[in-house]
Amino acid sequence: MRNVRAFALASVLALGAAACAPRPGEAAGAEHAAVDDSGHPGKAAYDQWCASCHESTEQSGAPTLAAIRTLNRSTVKYTLELGYMREQSKNVPKDELAQLIEWLPSADGTNDAWIEQARCGIKQRRVVLDKAPRTSVTFGVTYDANRRQSADEAGLTKADMKNLEVAWVTAFPQTPTMRSQPVIVGDTIFIAATDSGRLYALDTNSGCVKWHYVSDMTLRSSLTFAEATEKSPAAIVMGDAAGRVHAVNAINGKGMWVTDVKMNDLNRITGAPIVHDGKVFAPVSVIESNVPPDDSYECCKGQGAVAALDLATGKKLWVGRSIEEDAKPQRLGRTGTQQYGPAGAMIWSTPVLDAKRNQLYAGTGENLSWPATDTSDAIIAYDLDTGAKRWIFQATKADIWNSACGRRGANCDWPGAYHSPDHDFGGTSMLIKRKDGSEMVIAGQKSGVIWAINPDNGQLVWSNKVSRGSAMGGVHWGMAFDGTRIFAPSNDAANSPDNPNWGPGIHALDAMTGEIQWSYKPNARDCGQEFPVAKSYQPAPEWRITPISAPVLPPPPRVNAPPRRLPAIAAAPRAAAPAAAPAAVEGAPPAAIAAAPAGEGARPAAPRERCRLGFSPAPLLVDGALVTGTPQGMLRIFDGATGDVLFEYMTNKPWPNTVSGIEGQGGGLDSAPYVAGDGMLFVQSGYARFGEPPGNVLIAFRPKKER
Ligand code: HEC
Repeated sequence: MRNVRAFALASVLALGAAACAPRPGEAAGAEHAAVDDSGHPGKAAYDQWCASCHESTEQSGAPTLAAIRTLNRSTVKYTLELGYMREQSKNVPKDELAQLIEWLPSADGTNDAWIEQARCGIKQRRVVLDKAPRTSVTFGVTYDANRRQSADEAGLTKADMKNLEVAWVTAFPQTPTMRSQPVIVGDTIFIAATDSGRLYALDTNSGCVKWHYVSDMTLRSSLTFAEATEKSPAAIVMGDAAGRVHAVNAINGKGMWVTDVKMNDLNRITGAPIVHDGKVFAPVSVIESNVPPDDSYECCKGQGAVAALDLATGKKLWVGRSIEEDAKPQRLGRTGTQQYGPAGAMIWSTPVLDAKRNQLYAGTGENLSWPATDTSDAIIAYDLDTGAKRWIFQATKADIWNSACGRRGANCDWPGAYHSPDHDFGGTSMLIKRKDGSEMVIAGQKSGVIWAINPDNGQLVWSNKVSRGSAMGGVHWGMAFDGTRIFAPSNDAANSPDNPNWGPGIHALDAMTGEIQWSYKPNARDCGQEFPVAKSYQPAPEWRITPISAPVLPPPPRVNAPPRRLPAIAAAPRAAAPAAAPAAVEGAPPAAIAAAPAGEGARPAAPRERCRLGFSPAPLLVDGALVTGTPQGMLRIFDGATGDVLFEYMTNKPWPNTVSGIEGQGGGLDSAPYVAGDGMLFVQSGYARFGEPPGNVLIAFRPKKER
């Protein structure tokens, strides 16, 4: 079913590209997806080396063949030689790999022929920055990352959000995933079609193109708008898939500089770099977690960091490593392969700026190999001048995980005490100001715990575990804050019998206490079936979780558990020790709650087609309306005060008429797919990862006009 649908995507993209690319040769590559090329030797190589995962996308999380066939040749080549698939390709004979690279992509380069036809008229073409409102300038909307816009800033009221209609849609070629959050200044929306290596400045009112920037490498991160300084023009700053930071002149789209901040060739820029006082601060992540299932892989060496660069020149100023020592040979794994460490503590998300304290907050991921460090699954406060660590709040100790852990391969087998829940801080934190005037760093973890931390010293103020959490559960990309409530999405896969609050959905928490005020729990309707929307509900008092102030305890001892006996991650520690101790390790609820009768949160019947109910993307607040989305493509807007649903719209559908002339396809909503400004709500739809539906569109909604 999904394959058929996704194949349609490839065809519409191919047709769209062909329709806009009259010059012979230019669309030839795009057309060949529609031509029967099943006799090509590259197809046979695909069947042998790639089909096992790419034809079972639900299990493997791999994009469909149709989705990867929309990519251009340089993106595919990069993926196989250096990127995500280099381990999967390393045993493919050279000639077969060449045939694969010849057969698979839709075209040699990126098809830019449509741009001239969608170019703005002379008057709209100018990017006006003087006196233009800075509506949404980075992933967090503002640098405190509260992901909140007032009615004035957005040009939209909560009442408007009940009654939206589509103003225009544009679609991008050779793009199955819309992963980069746009920024808006005045009437310009800056947006990246990352797979095709293109950054565009579009007119907010019509979607016409003001300028475009061509990257020689697949782009990856969300965007940040940097104000002009005495030495530098206003710029758009972003990261690419090769671990480099790009700065592009915001007025005319001319490249200013590209700086490589890799420490290791598996480093990437995933979160948006932020900018302050003429300096760029780029978070450095690692994709090495994908490769260790191969027992012969010498796991692991990649580490995270924040790299500071000069905005005017791109010159490196400092690198604040998450792990101070280099990874070095440690011991031989059980198959005799050399293991390396310490590794990991990568920084996936956009850092949060605290200009007043002259520091930034970065959340880290797990350790990738032994030994564990005290900087994994942590929030680190970095000094903005030097990159020195001012404090470290470690939420989960000794979380050593990589993708060998699913079957407990040789690269997930270490000495000593550790556990492997993979509880990253994958989402951006927030620096909030509460109603009593106090400031707090709020961090949401994949464990499902929300932490409130004192920004002056890194001390825990309160925490609340609001979802079961897992390697893909809990808080995935980020949260939002409306001045009193914290909105924490949960990407849990299913409800949990242990606690009815857990499971997929979104919670509104009181910022003073961390208590849940309302929750939304999705149901079958969220998979496109027509059922009534679940009512938001108040949690029963016994489920209210009292604040804990105890620091994090060490993990339960577990030494070299035998292969294949890896239990469900949350279950093991609870059974192994008195409830209170391990509970704090993973931020699990206190004993009273863990012991409460199960069954109330019974698992829903398995939805059709393994529909994902989790709330993965980071939410956005517009005048108190809470904009959320699902990996299935459903846009849903709540009243942030009550949890009532104001508006719903299924974006996962074909969009035949687009400003670009390229046929569009909506898909999953993930990462941070929405941003408001200039009287409109912009939603980008399509996410060819984790088994989600691919797509290539930007949809502009506006309040319905009175007729
Ligand atoms: C073990 C399973 C597996 C095998 C085998 C495999 N892939 Fe993948 N592939 C994946 C997954 C999972 C992803 C998504 C990566 C991610 O998001 O982390 C992916 C992503 C990709 C992408 C998109 C990368 C991007 O950056 O968007 C391409 C292109 C690709 N694979 C091509 C191939 C080719 C060609 C082969 C055969 C040589 C292959 N894959 C073999 C699992 C696999």
